[in-house]
Amino acid sequence: MNNGILYGVSLGPGNPDLITRRSWALLQSDKVWAYPIRNPNSDSYALDIVLRAGLPLPAQHMSLIFPMTHDAQKLAKYWLQAAETVIERLHRGEDVLFLVEGDASTYSTFGHLARTVRALDESIEVETIAGVPSFNAAAARLQMPLADVDDTIAIIPAGYGIKTISHLLDEFDTLILLKVKPLLDEIINLLAERGLLAESRFIEKAGSPHERVVHDVASLQGEKVNYLSLLLVKNPHRQRGEIIRGCRKKTASDRG
Ligand SMILES: C[S@@+](CC[C@H](N)C(=O)[O-])C[C@H]1O[C@@H](n2cnc3c(N)ncnc32)[C@H](O)[C@@H]1O
Repeated sequence: MNNGILYGVSLGPGNPDLITRRSWALLQSDKVWAYPIRNPNSDSYALDIVLRAGLPLPAQHMSLIFPMTHDAQKLAKYWLQAAETVIERLHRGEDVLFLVEGDASTYSTFGHLARTVRALDESIEVETIAGVPSFNAAAARLQMPLADVDDTIAIIPAGYGIKTISHLLDEFDTLILLKVKPLLDEIINLLAERGLLAESRFIEKAGSPHERVVHDVASLQGEKVNYLSLLLVKNPHRQRGEIIRGCRKKTASDRG
C-alpha cells in the first residue's frame, strides 16, 4: 500500500473568498483534515475559515496542538507528537490536509510539521499549496501598495526589537511587521519619533468577521491587541541607493 500525501492547504487570512481553487478542490475531496490549535480548549482559526466557507467538517478530522511558547524543548515535543499522529494516517494510505491560515510557506506551523514528518519518514510525499498571506490581503484592504517601481520591502516578526526595526526603516520603503502584539507600544513610540505614524496602518484578523483596521495607530497605545495583527509602515524619507544600470530602460535624460 502506498503512503498518503501530506498537503499544506493554504486558506488565506480569513475571507473564504481568498481560498484558491486548488485548496478548494482538495477540501472537497474525501481526505482527512488536520488543523492547529494552541491548547485543548482553544478554537482553530484555520478551521473556522473553512467552516465559514460552507464546507462541512468531514468524518475524518483531528486537531493538533501547537502551543504558543518559545520553549524549544516543549515545542519540539509537540511537533513530534503532531507528526506522529499525522504519520499514522499517512502510513494507512490516507491523505492528510493540514489547514493553514494565510500562506503555508510563510511563518506557518506547516513548515515544522512537514519537516518533522519527513525526519521520521523521508519517503512521505509533501505538497504545499500556495495561498494569500495576511499582509497581501491587508495591503489590498488598506489600499496601501506594498511596493511600486524600485521600492524595497522587508517582512519581519516585530520581536527582533526596536533597534532592528529602526535600522530597517532606513533600508526599506515598506516594513511589514508581524507578531506585533508584545511590542506594540514601543513600536508606536518609534513611529512617532520617526514621524511615520501617518504612514502606518494596523490590521487585526484581516478578512475575518472580526477584522479591525486602525488608521490612527497612536490610538492603540496601551491596548492589548490580538495575536493575529500586523502593521504596515511606509518610509517616504528613505535615502535610496543607486540602481544598477541595465536593469531599467534608459530614459532620455539618462542618455544625456
Ligand atoms: C505565525 S504567523 C502566520 C502567517 C501566515 N501564515 C500568513 O501567511 O500570513 C502569524 C502572524 O501573521 C500575522 N497574521 C496572520 N493572519 C493574520 C490576519 N488574519 N490578520 C492580521 N495579521 C495576521 C500576524 O502578524 C500574526 O502574528
